[in-house]
Amino acid sequence: MLQDQDRIFTNLYGMHDRTLAGAKKRGHWDGTAGILDKGRDWIVDQMKASGLRGRGGAGFPTGLKWSFMPKESDGRPAYLVVNADESEPGTCKDREIMRHDPHTLIEGCLIASFAMQAHACYIYIRGEYIREREALQRAIDEAYEDGLIGPNACGSGYDFELFLHHGAGAYICGEETALLESLEGRKGMPRMKPPFPAGAGLYGCPTTVNNVESIAVVPTILRRGPEWFASFGRQNNAGTKLFAISGHVNRPCVVEEAMSISFEELIEKHCGGIRGGWDNLKAVIPGGSSVPCVRGEKMRDAVMDFDYLRGELGSGLGTAAVIVMDQSTDIIKAIWRLAKFYKHESCGQCTPCREGTGWMMRVMDRLVRGEAEVEEIDMLFDVTKQVEGHTICALGDAAAWPIQGLIRNFRDEIEDRIKAQKAGRVSAVAAE
Ligand code: NAI
Ligand code: SF4
Repeated sequence: MLQDQDRIFTNLYGMHDRTLAGAKKRGHWDGTAGILDKGRDWIVDQMKASGLRGRGGAGFPTGLKWSFMPKESDGRPAYLVVNADESEPGTCKDREIMRHDPHTLIEGCLIASFAMQAHACYIYIRGEYIREREALQRAIDEAYEDGLIGPNACGSGYDFELFLHHGAGAYICGEETALLESLEGRKGMPRMKPPFPAGAGLYGCPTTVNNVESIAVVPTILRRGPEWFASFGRQNNAGTKLFAISGHVNRPCVVEEAMSISFEELIEKHCGGIRGGWDNLKAVIPGGSSVPCVRGEKMRDAVMDFDYLRGELGSGLGTAAVIVMDQSTDIIKAIWRLAKFYKHESCGQCTPCREGTGWMMRVMDRLVRGEAEVEEIDMLFDVTKQVEGHTICALGDAAAWPIQGLIRNFRDEIEDRIKAQKAGRVSAVAAE
C-alpha cells in the first residue's frame, strides 16, 4: 500500500500551490543541474533500472525506448514530444498532473530531453484542456523567467526550448505518428511503423514520444532512485501509478497508488466502495475504453497491473482508467456507445478500420434493440477478428476489443435480449 510520503504527485492531495515557489518547496527543481551532470547514459540506465513502463496505455519500457535514440548526431536535430492529447474515454489522469503539478512535468521534459540530446521539446495538449493549457503555459513562463529552461537551462550549459501546442479535438491525434503529422501542420493520419519515431519522427528526425505521466515521474525516480520506484508493484510492473476511477463507485477520483494493488483495495480505500455494495457490481473496464470489459465477479480479486489484467483476464491496464458499472447498466448499450465513438474517430485511411467500424456499429445498433438473429453474434465476433491486427494503427484493435469483451463476457445477456424481442418482451432500448 502506498504511504503519503511515497506519492509523486503530492499536489493532487491538497497542496494546491502550483506556482514555481510551491513546486520548489515540494523539492522540484532541486539540484537539477547535478542530475544532468551525471550524463545521459546514467539517466537512461537509471530509467531502465526503475522498470518504468509507458503510462500512455501500451506499457512499452520507457528507458528502452529512450535508448533507441541515436547515440551520435548525424546532423539531424533530436526531439522529445510529450503526448498530452489525453482522449481515451474514461481517462483523465494527465489532466490532473498538468492542472496541479505542471512543474514536475516541465522538469521531466528537461531531463528526458537532455538524456536524448533533444534541444527542443513539444507538449501536444488536447484542445479541450483549456485550463490545463493555461496552467502549463504559466508554469513554462515561470521556468523560462527563472532560467530553469531556455539557454543554459538550470546553469547546466545545456540549451533547451519547450513549446506547448494544442490539438483541435481529434482522438486519432493521440496516436503518436498522427500526432507528429498534426504537429507538422498536416491532417492527423497515422503513419506506417516501422520506421518508429526514434528513426524518423518529427520532421523526419529522431524523436521520442512519451506520455505526460511517464515524463512527470522522471525527476522523482532520479532523486529517490530506481530501486525505490521498483519497490512498488510486482516484477515487470513497477512503480506508482495514477488510476482514474469513474462510474458506479461512491466517490469517483483520480488517485496515485502502488502498481499491482488489488481492485478491491483500490475501490474500498479511495472510492468508498461500489454503489450498492459488491454484489451490485456488474462489469469493469479496467484500462480505458480500448480494453475489453470484465465481469464484476472476476474483478474483485484482480491485481491492477499490465501482466495480470492481460494474462489472467484477457483485458489490460491500458491508461488505468477504471470504469465501474453496476447492475443498473445496460452493458450492450454501453459497448454500443463505444462502437459509435470509434466509428466516428476512425481516420478512414485503411479499409478494415474504415469499413469495419461501420459494420460493427450497425450490428451493435440492432443488438441493443434485440433486433437481430442469435447467429449474428458470432458473425460480429468474426468481423472484430477481421479488423484486429489488420490496420495501420491501434484504433482498429481498440474498436474490436470492447466488442470481443462484450461477447465473451455477456453473451447470455445479448441472447436474452434477442429472445425477449422475438417474444415481444423488449420495450425498445432505444439507441440514440
Ligand atoms: P504500441 O505498442 O504500438 O507502441 C508503444 C510505444 O512503443 C510507441 O511509442 C512505439 O513507437 C514504441 N515501440 C513499440 N515497438 C517498438 C519497436 N519495435 N521499436 C521501437 N519503438 C517501439 O502502442 P501505441 O499504438 O503507441 O498505443 C496504443 C495504446 O495507447 C493502447 O494500449 C491504448 O490503451 C492507448 N491509448 C491511450 C490514449 C490516451 O488518451 N492516453 C488514447 C488512445 C489509446
Ligand atoms: Fe486510420 Fe483506423 Fe487505419 Fe488507424 S486503423 S490509420 S484510425 S483507418
